[in-house]
Amino acid sequence: MDQVKVGLVGLGTIGAGVAQILLERGRAFGPKVGVELLLARVAELDRAKIRKAKVPAKLVAKNADEIIDDPDIQIVIELIGGIHPAREIILSALKKGKHVVTANKALLAAHGDTIFKTARKAGRCISFEASVGGGIPVIGALRDGLAANGIQTIFGIVNGTTNYILTQMTQADKTYADALGEAQEKGYAEADPTADVSGADSTHKLAILARIGFGMRIDYHKIYREGIDKIHLEDLQDALKLGYVLKLLAIGKRQGSQLELRVHPTLLPMDHPLAMVNGVYNAIGISGDWVGSTMFYGRGAGREPTTSAVVADVIDVALGRAPITFSKRGCFSSKPKMARLMDITKIKTRYFLRINVIDRPGVLAKISGVLGRNEISIASVVQPEWRHGKLVPLVMMTHTAMSGHVRRAMRQIDCLDVVKGKSRLIRVEG
Ligand code: HSE
Repeated sequence: MDQVKVGLVGLGTIGAGVAQILLERGRAFGPKVGVELLLARVAELDRAKIRKAKVPAKLVAKNADEIIDDPDIQIVIELIGGIHPAREIILSALKKGKHVVTANKALLAAHGDTIFKTARKAGRCISFEASVGGGIPVIGALRDGLAANGIQTIFGIVNGTTNYILTQMTQADKTYADALGEAQEKGYAEADPTADVSGADSTHKLAILARIGFGMRIDYHKIYREGIDKIHLEDLQDALKLGYVLKLLAIGKRQGSQLELRVHPTLLPMDHPLAMVNGVYNAIGISGDWVGSTMFYGRGAGREPTTSAVVADVIDVALGRAPITFSKRGCFSSKPKMARLMDITKIKTRYFLRINVIDRPGVLAKISGVLGRNEISIASVVQPEWRHGKLVPLVMMTHTAMSGHVRRAMRQIDCLDVVKGKSRLIRVEG
């Protein structure tokens, strides 16, 4: 039975899970998957984390270099996250002839090109299933299972923290601040939740999925992004009354020679499959020209599911499958062209509008006049409260309209004397 020695850098939540499964089952994987995995060295600067993970002292390396320089180690698992020193560790490991497994989506989104190039030059591979969708094997599906297809759309919930917050707001009428506080208490959201709530994490994941799915290089800075931090509870409640649920979606669509890539809060009809994905779960719908629609669902974050994905990658590399795929698939080379991203102002969707108006005759006519002049057609209007002469919300659904037109119309509407405060607009899909 082949035995492959593995080095692990980082013993945080996921690293500790990976250490545990390799120590408990590494050898036992042999009969099942055809290769034994031996955790040979672990690097972690925080002694408390080493104690907590119960890693035997003899396996603890002084630093990551000791692992990278060990000629017996064939695979390095990087689980420290962030850009530095993760980037340097990965590049150095590849140059020293190690294969690399990582969950580092921020690094791959920002420096994927350099890392892929370095790996291909060194004749090694980098695998990163755990970087998107936690335990859901969505990268493997895009790369292998759906390889025969021209991918048309990637459409999903790829951030568990924000999905938990939105679920709490929708189902328990919690304000954004309360739902975020609860997510932090439960350990889903970081003390600094910016990466999740700003949509940046979803953008990194969309960039990774789009590169594999559409086979183009992606400048993730150019992906349109809106987070959930400006969402008001009333928006969700009014949308719910109309039969819509709010989700933070990562959307990728092929549009001729361009790609439409965007991350933003999106309303979905209640019976849409993604509307039923709640809590920290993720779900990604992918459609291809031959397979049609597919859907991948599971726990998108957390120790156990993410560990499952990391170790599956290690097995794939140890068996020799991943290096072949990595060396052959065009999306991992430096050849793919840089994607041309569609200007967000040209993208067409339906819209939910929430406008605070003075309740008096002629107000609706003024607002619909502005919308009409901007080529926006109203599908439905609801005024959930009636208080003559007082401030009330006017809630509208539009037919499909161009983003640039809607923004211009809302700027004009917000200048009307009968409108108070900044109006709210949320895109609608499905
Ligand atoms: N912070 C991420 C999420 C998990 O909430 O989905 C890691 O990708």
